Amino acid sequence: MERIMVARASEIPALRSRTVTVGGMEIAIFKLSSGELRAIENRCPHKNGKLSEGIVCDHHVFCPLHDWKINMKDGLVQAPDEGCVTTFSVEVDEEGKVYLLWEKGSLSA
Ligand code: FES
Repeated sequence: MERIMVARASEIPALRSRTVTVGGMEIAIFKLSSGELRAIENRCPHKNGKLSEGIVCDHHVFCPLHDWKINMKDGLVQAPDEGCVTTFSVEVDEEGKVYLLWEKGSLSA
């Protein structure tokens, strides 16, 4: 597993996101209303909308362009639309540093 520090948890306001680019892929890290963090590819599978600019509701984000609803737990687009975005694991250490994790070889970082 690869891991990189991408932010401090306190820097990401609730219901907002921060973006990072790892291995050529832009990734959005969202803070849910619960304080939990979720990381997904920052590209809507419909027409490449920036999901980081979408509205967060529970563990879903609504694409800002055409309102597709994407589950940030598994990356699946919700019916009646179809598709999927890549999801990443996130860890927060005792100092509040946020780390993004991915399988070795799945990103070219
Ligand atoms: S680009 Fe996201 S719903 Fe169309």
